[in-house]
Amino acid sequence: MVLQVTEDQTKAFEGQKPSTSGLRKAVKVFQQPGYTENFVQSILTALGPRLAGSTLAVGGDGRFFCTEAVDIIIKIAAGNGVAKLLVGQNGILSTPSASNVIRKYKLTGGILLTASHNPGGPDNDFGIKFNTSNGGPAPDAVTNEIYDLSRTITKYKIVKDLNCNISEIGLKKFQVDGKSFEVEVIDPVADYVTLMKEIFDFDSMKKLIKGDAKRPPFQVLINSMHGVTGPYAEEIFVKELGASQENMVKTNILPDFGGHHPDPNLTYAADLVESIAKGEYDIGAAFDGDGDRNMVLGKKAFFVTPSDSLAVLAANLDCIPYFKKRGVHGFARSMPTGAAVDRVAADKKKEIFETPTGWKYFGNLMDAGRISLCGEESFGTGSDHIREKDGIWAVLAWLSVVAHLGKSVESIVKEHWSKYGRNFFTRYDYENCDADQSNKMMIELENKVTAPGFAGQTFKSGSKTYTVQAADNFEYLDPIDGSVAKNQGIRIMFTDGSRLIFRLSGTGSSGATIRLYAESYESDKKVIENPASEMLQPIVQLALELSQLQKYTGRDKPTVIT
Ligand code: G6P
Ligand code: ZN
Repeated sequence: MVLQVTEDQTKAFEGQKPSTSGLRKAVKVFQQPGYTENFVQSILTALGPRLAGSTLAVGGDGRFFCTEAVDIIIKIAAGNGVAKLLVGQNGILSTPSASNVIRKYKLTGGILLTASHNPGGPDNDFGIKFNTSNGGPAPDAVTNEIYDLSRTITKYKIVKDLNCNISEIGLKKFQVDGKSFEVEVIDPVADYVTLMKEIFDFDSMKKLIKGDAKRPPFQVLINSMHGVTGPYAEEIFVKELGASQENMVKTNILPDFGGHHPDPNLTYAADLVESIAKGEYDIGAAFDGDGDRNMVLGKKAFFVTPSDSLAVLAANLDCIPYFKKRGVHGFARSMPTGAAVDRVAADKKKEIFETPTGWKYFGNLMDAGRISLCGEESFGTGSDHIREKDGIWAVLAWLSVVAHLGKSVESIVKEHWSKYGRNFFTRYDYENCDADQSNKMMIELENKVTAPGFAGQTFKSGSKTYTVQAADNFEYLDPIDGSVAKNQGIRIMFTDGSRLIFRLSGTGSSGATIRLYAESYESDKKVIENPASEMLQPIVQLALELSQLQKYTGRDKPTVIT
């Protein structure tokens, strides 16, 4: 069949502004005629001179509308002179594996189809995200350009009759207006497994899982929450490392994630918590929809906060072959993330960076060789092996540390606290609040905390007294490219190292989600193992008073506590 490019007229849609992590909207929004086409065309146009003859990766987390979106992308890419697409079989590519494919095959970039941890299905969310040639989420300059193009678009180029079967692995060749266009359908898992085997010592993990005369088998419980990690987890934990298939839960990908929030935290992965609480498993982990987030639990559901997870891995990285070979450069964490890793950095004399929320801010630091490991309180941990956070990588890193130290997850964390002190940390989420009222609250709070005289004030809450050292709306100057990110969250820092942070989420698709982060540092061994909720109660109380959160939102308790 002769395939031809046509230029279709379209009108711009409002609000195609990518936020923290791509364009995320309800599926129904993406299903409007022209909506997805416009955004894909804007991504491609933004490539400028790199578009013609480019090769891009395409894949997503398997949620509802993924295969339709892949079809649209294939047709529009063919219409725009893209030379080749590498598409995950059935449209599947976890976010970390897409990042790897872009880097490994030196592609121009990739289009990732996911709304990460947001629920999926016809009545829930979809998302499209563009990653650049380093494998990481596009920086602000690129997403702003895409947004600008989406506001003035009048037509898109498409090859309507190009139909490509993405369920079969292999190279498919087409001729479009006399030029060649290729789609290579790839195994979504294979390249990722190869990468993990290059990074980690699989033999030591295999021995740990198998056990020996001196040590019983180490029981690993994995819960993929019906997201994209299922096939990756089965290949790695069962086939490669010898874990039992019975220990793999919800590893079949479902387009609506079984009707749940595919978000690995204590609330949405309650089934993992419940199963591991019984004491039969030594480590438990869950991942989000697209496989970049992770939650790690020790025996009897001992919860490792993401901030502690980052710090413990930072302290033990040299037991992993990848870091042994390449050395450990600095560390980074997002601003709201607990500062436990800062203490490890100081101890190990490494650089430490505090960036805004969003994985994209780590990319420049990694590309410049300044950091090896980074993490966020939002259940993200990763390294410079790719440019996305990586859920399965994090669990393999934990298994490596456990195999190396020969101790349980709980003892490793507790010994870490006793060496470095403990950064108690909690996050309260108030989901789906009224946007106007939430904005008002943030403005009022900013005015209050930046007014002259706020720094230096002392507040009493419960048995504690806090003196404000400084407060601001966090701003980041990227040390590599000099770009500035403003308005990244209100910080109140106290003289004892405690902190309160308020942010509006950038990943929701409707209303506003207020996040309140509270941190308090203790080195006193008598209190170090106390429950975090108890230790943080006074500072949370103070946060609620300072922000007047209840008055603005009408909420007397958060939707989720992590
Ligand atoms: C995504 C990004 C993370 C970021 C998180 C913040 O998951 O990939 O890097 O930490 O969003 O979400 P929020 O809802 O707090 O803006
Ligand atoms: Zn995600």
